[in-house]
Formats: sequence, structure tokens, C-alpha cells
Amino acid sequence: MTEPNLSPNQERIASDIHKLASLTNPSKPGWTRRPFTSWYALGREWLQEQMAELHMSVHYDAASNLIGSIPGSESELKPIMVGSHTDTVTGGGRFDGIIGVIAGLELVRVLRESGITLRHPLEIVDFTAEEPSEFGISTIGSRGMVNNLTEEMLLRQDPNGLVLKEAIVLAGGNPDLISEQARKPGDVALYLELHIEQGPILEQSLHRLGVVTGIVGIHRYRIVVEGSPNHAGTTPMTMRSDALTGAAQLVLELEALMNLAYEESVVGTVGKLNVEPNASNVIPGRVEFDLEIRSINSSILVDIIAVYQEKAKRIAHQRGLAIQFDSLSKSEPIRVNNEVQSGIRSACQQTGSTLDLPSGAGHDGNQISRIAPIGMIFVPSKEGRSHCPEEWTSQEDVALGVEALIRAVLLFDQR
Ligand code: GLV
Ligand code: MN
Ligand code: MN
Ligand code: MN
Repeated sequence: MTEPNLSPNQERIASDIHKLASLTNPSKPGWTRRPFTSWYALGREWLQEQMAELHMSVHYDAASNLIGSIPGSESELKPIMVGSHTDTVTGGGRFDGIIGVIAGLELVRVLRESGITLRHPLEIVDFTAEEPSEFGISTIGSRGMVNNLTEEMLLRQDPNGLVLKEAIVLAGGNPDLISEQARKPGDVALYLELHIEQGPILEQSLHRLGVVTGIVGIHRYRIVVEGSPNHAGTTPMTMRSDALTGAAQLVLELEALMNLAYEESVVGTVGKLNVEPNASNVIPGRVEFDLEIRSINSSILVDIIAVYQEKAKRIAHQRGLAIQFDSLSKSEPIRVNNEVQSGIRSACQQTGSTLDLPSGAGHDGNQISRIAPIGMIFVPSKEGRSHCPEEWTSQEDVALGVEALIRAVLLFDQR
């Protein structure tokens, strides 16, 4: 029997990526489509139209995830789910998340064109707000889908006073139904996601496809440093409680801790910082900053934060500051199970040169792993750049990734 044509259409994929890149906020750098904005809604409207054109049934679930589905030939089987996200960081690129959703559309097109009906139902998901949102939470939609969005999270406000619950309603969801609609273990046969690597490993090792072996856990904290605002000209250096110099020391302490040797890799970042009153002639009285640490080993994350909090206590004491830690969110590291890894590996090996690697970026699969086996395929990122306008993956590599995803779906569908 000749194999049906499983090649995705490279030009069609490139044109979809280009279209979504055009639906971004022109007043922000790069390709910015923050969740819960009008640009986000426009992108999803377009996506919804594409799904409808493919005769998929389309709906927003309780957590406002956009889902397009097609039935399988064996209706008692649980769905295979394919997805990613279309929100971006501010000043982000055109590929992070986006190619995983476009890959889902292209998968359905290729199935239609080659006359293949899967045994399993298929769901293509654009997960709501995967990136850290203004509510201090990431992976909002996938958390909601598996009932891991707590009431405390749903009641958080963004800087404009909008409550997350209201934002989800505006995005088409219904927070009151999140726990009722939540998927339970066994409800989904398998979750697969194609994503850019967002790091340098595939490019440097000259591989074009990556089999993801695990996803780091991410622990995020908000840290508030309270000093005392005062006149910058008249307050002697010995009489200051400068919240910003204290915060600066904390940032450098984090870097120093990250540079120690651990049994597995760990990284930590302070990427967001607010200084009050933020005036050139006032000693900063208050600094609020967000800190995150990531590792594939959760006990390293717990141990490091304990050490760090002790260091912070010492800094607070030495500098006459109050330092408060609040946990913003925690996702635990996950390992992709061997059976899924090996299926994805053989799909990738039929398509191009393949390497196993862990993911240092967080993904919706991390949440979905609470209810289903998950697997991910990576394609190379030029110069390892991501979360910046320069983020780039060639058309050819995106298409190879889509082909590997199609092969993986067909392989698992037959099991
Ligand atoms: C998600 O993109 C992350 O921050 O890893
Ligand atoms: Mn991202
Ligand atoms: Mn992403
Ligand atoms: Mn992701």
C-alpha cells in the first residue's frame, strides 16, 4: 500500500504565521499579542474562522480555551489533543506558541486532503494565556482545563483592577463551570505540542527535530522590599533605608546562587521590577519584583528558595528593610513517559535528524500532564533567541516539525 501524502504545505503554514503576526499591537515592540487584549481577540477570531472553514466544531470552554474538534471513527475512544498558545510576551516573536496552534490546523488540512479519518476524535486547542499574565499567573487556560486554577487565582486583579474571572468571561469562558467541565485523568488519550526550542541546542548540534524528555518546573515569587523614601540630597548615606539598593543586592544574590553547582541544571531570573516612587531625587521607598527559578528537579527548587530566604533575612537586617515573599505560582517539573518519547522519536526520525532534549521553557503540557500523557516536538530557534522580536525558525524547519507531529498523531492513533 502506498503511504498517503503526509507533507504539510509549507507556504500555507508560512502564510498563517504571517497572518497572526499581523494581528499584533503596533504600539508595542516586536509581535505583541498579550492575553485578554483586543489583539488577542482578533487573533482568535481569525483562528476560529480557519477552524470553521475546516468544518471543525468550535467552542470556548469554561476557561476560555478555544477548541476545534473533529470526530474519530471510533466514538468511544478518548480524544487526541494537539495545541499550544497564541498569546505572546511583550516584545515577543512570531513563533512561540503560534506554530503549535497553526500545526494543529495544518494537521487537520492534511488529514482532509489525504482522506484519512483518525480512530480517535481530535481536538485542536489554543490555550488561554500561556505566558505570565498581568494577573501574575501563566498557563491560565490549561490550568483551568485540569481544574488547577484556584479561587484565589481567579480573584486576582490586574493593574487596572480587572479580576481574572471577568477577563475569562470577556474571552468567552465561564469561570463558574471550570470545575464542572474540568478534564479528569483518562479523559484525554494523549496531548501533543509542537513548539520552537527557544534555546540553542538543536541549531548548535545540527539537528532539526527535538524529542522533549521533560519540562522544567517553575516557581515564581513576588518580593516586596520596603525601605523608607527620603530626600536624595539631604539624607546621609548612613541614614538611608534604600529599597532599591536592597533589591539590587537580592538580584545579585540570586545570580550568585544560580552559579553554584547543582546535580541538575537550574536557572533563576528577575525580569520585572517596580520602583516607588521612581523619581530621580527620592531614595526609593519600595521595590516590588518578580523572581522565578526553574529546574527539572523540584527538590532543587525548594532547597534553593529556602537558602535564598535566609539570605534575604540577613540583607533585611543589615539594611534596615522589610522583605516579604509571596508565592505567585508553582508548576512542578514533569518527565515525558518513555512510551510517548519513543513514539515521537520514531515519528521524528522518519522526518529528519532528531535529538532528545529537556525543555527549559514552561508549556501547557505541564498542566495537561495531570490528566493525560503528554509529548512535545521541538524545532530549532535561530541563535537560540526567543521571547524577543528576533525569534526565528525557518519555514522549512517549521514544516518539518509539522510533518513530525502529523506522523506522531497517526502513529499514536493506531495504538
Ligand atoms: C513560557 O513561555 C515560559 O516562560 O517558559
Ligand atoms: Mn513563551
Ligand atoms: Mn510558548
Ligand atoms: Mn508553551
